[in-house]
Amino acid sequence: MKTYRIWLSPPSLAEGTTEAVAQALMSNWIAPHGPALDAFEDYLARLHGQRPVVATVSGTAALHLALLAAGIEPHDEVLVPDFTYAATAHAVAYCGATPVLVDTEDDSPQLSPDWLRVAAADRRAKGRPLKAAVVAHLYGRAGRMPEIQAVCQEYSLTLIEDAAEALGVQVAGCHAGTWGHVAALSFNGNKIITTGGGGALICQNPDTKARTLILAQQARDPLLPWAHLGIGYNYRLSNVLAALGLAQLPRLDWHISQRKNIDLRYRKTLTEVDGWNFFDESPDLQPNYWLTTCWLSPDTEASPDQVIAYLNRAGIESRRLWRPLREHPSFAGCPFYGRRRGDFWFARGLCLPTGSDLTDAEQAEIVALCRAALRC
Ligand SMILES: Cc1ncc(COP(=O)(O)O)c(C=O)c1O
Repeated sequence: MKTYRIWLSPPSLAEGTTEAVAQALMSNWIAPHGPALDAFEDYLARLHGQRPVVATVSGTAALHLALLAAGIEPHDEVLVPDFTYAATAHAVAYCGATPVLVDTEDDSPQLSPDWLRVAAADRRAKGRPLKAAVVAHLYGRAGRMPEIQAVCQEYSLTLIEDAAEALGVQVAGCHAGTWGHVAALSFNGNKIITTGGGGALICQNPDTKARTLILAQQARDPLLPWAHLGIGYNYRLSNVLAALGLAQLPRLDWHISQRKNIDLRYRKTLTEVDGWNFFDESPDLQPNYWLTTCWLSPDTEASPDQVIAYLNRAGIESRRLWRPLREHPSFAGCPFYGRRRGDFWFARGLCLPTGSDLTDAEQAEIVALCRAALRC
């Protein structure tokens, strides 16, 4: 029996990947840096309005560098979505700063600009050392970025984008990753383009890139041999992994259009069934459709866990949405602003398989099982 992994499309490596990696290997540029790394960063820079890019070993490393570039120091506060993957807040903790958690929208799991404003106003009124806000674009979509940007401007906060799940997403014609001062991408094994493990920092200007490059390479002085300017990190992506990413990037539009069709089919076929619900999309948003996410009405006979188990027995992987950060021991004591709407998305949400190579017949089988699962 074939297993339908939730996000994996096994042949997602573009034709030409093997050649690209072989070339990188044969050029003797195995480690650490080389032409494939430069070309990968240049490609990403072109995609993001020529913003300078530093490729990193992971999205989490890119987030850490983004916060350091924003000048986040111990005891600072940073606004962070309550509903996101833990790495968003881990990077804040690496800096010794405190995440201040902010709720989602009422009708979507994206960060609410309204709660962001409430949180910023209250922290300022209390005289807290609030410096920045991180917005995470979730599941290949994004929230109300103009409003989020406006709140950050109003309260003089550095805006950092966690665009780990959002390569190729656009809001109002602007790419995710170009709304903030700095942004992080992920090329982890489950992402729409993957280097197995990897990430990238999108900088607003060459100066940020130059400073970040030093930090990402053990703070080595670029001018003085074997001198280190301070404490640095080993965060730069290797040339070989960059070659993997470089070979896939030209297929980004293909992945997006495949996944768009998959997403539309799920919406069309499952909204007919009582209990399955999908998030409305603003006309301003161009998703990358990384994952199809939906939620089950509170009164369905089967719970999301039962539906997941039912699909799993048929070899189909599906997943819950993120557990809110307040629920993790490391962040349980952090200040929180909102109505705990993230709890609802966690309790009722699901991700369905969206691998770019999913065929119509395979998807029809998944949909039939999803329909049946609610009656299980
Ligand atoms: C929202 C979000 N932020 C950060 C990360 C961390 O990226 P990485 O796994 O490349 O470190 C991920 C996922 O992998 C993510 O989904």
